[in-house]
Amino acid sequence: MQISLKQQVALVTGASSGIGAGCAKALADAGAAVVLNYNSEAEPAEELARQIIAEGGRAIAIGADVSKEQEVERLFAHTIEAFGSLDILVANSGMQKDAPAVDMSLADWNQVIGVNLTGQFLCARAALRIFNRQGVREGVSRAAGKIIHMSSVHQRIPWAGHVNYAASKGGVDMLMQTLAQEVSHQRIRINGIAPGAIRTAINRAATEGAAEQDLLKLIPYGRVGDVEDVANAVVFLASDASDYIVGTTLFIDGGMSLYPEFRGNG
Ligand code: BGC
Repeated sequence: MQISLKQQVALVTGASSGIGAGCAKALADAGAAVVLNYNSEAEPAEELARQIIAEGGRAIAIGADVSKEQEVERLFAHTIEAFGSLDILVANSGMQKDAPAVDMSLADWNQVIGVNLTGQFLCARAALRIFNRQGVREGVSRAAGKIIHMSSVHQRIPWAGHVNYAASKGGVDMLMQTLAQEVSHQRIRINGIAPGAIRTAINRAATEGAAEQDLLKLIPYGRVGDVEDVANAVVFLASDASDYIVGTTLFIDGGMSLYPEFRGNG
């Protein structure tokens, strides 16, 4: 299987670090022109864009808060101005603001739902409008467009102390499935990815030092994931190699969602 995303344009939200940055790099390596969206961290996104260009690729970094309708509209308009089309959206921006439910402020609830769920809706809506206008670009891809929603194992596994985050990811699952049901007949492919513990800034405390040993008890495969584990799957789901995969979520979690506590128990 050979994957080439040449002539395709990909927009990755939350691409200044972690999974988003890894996905943007992998999509660029596969030949796509890449828009790296960031919210507050311009410099790392711009640096990655420069690196992609230095390696012969096409890339641009664009700032926008995905929870704000007008900023999302500007982001997608700017993408079309820069590269003329859009073929792939990786709706990846996400954040955690953890607290026991009894102590969680409404502001922290709203912010996490705003970025993780509303942000994915606003970006998907903007992408769908472009895909509909564009239609299938013959010789470029069999689909008129592809959306990959970055979810989490916590779309399925409840997570005490993280109710805003888990609720947002449960919402992402239904957002993804409902949109897929709604637009697949327009040759638009929508899927999700549910990463487990991937070594990034969002979970540094849980993946370093003594905490890592505790975390590994939840991962039957016996290692914390790397950004590339997710980025490779994003390239696959963005490509025609997955052309018949519609409305499903790929769990990339070393078996975390298999309830490993039940081995020898229950
Ligand atoms: C969270 C990480 C967490 C992992 C497994 C992810 O969605 O962002 O912080 O380590 O799920 O619990």
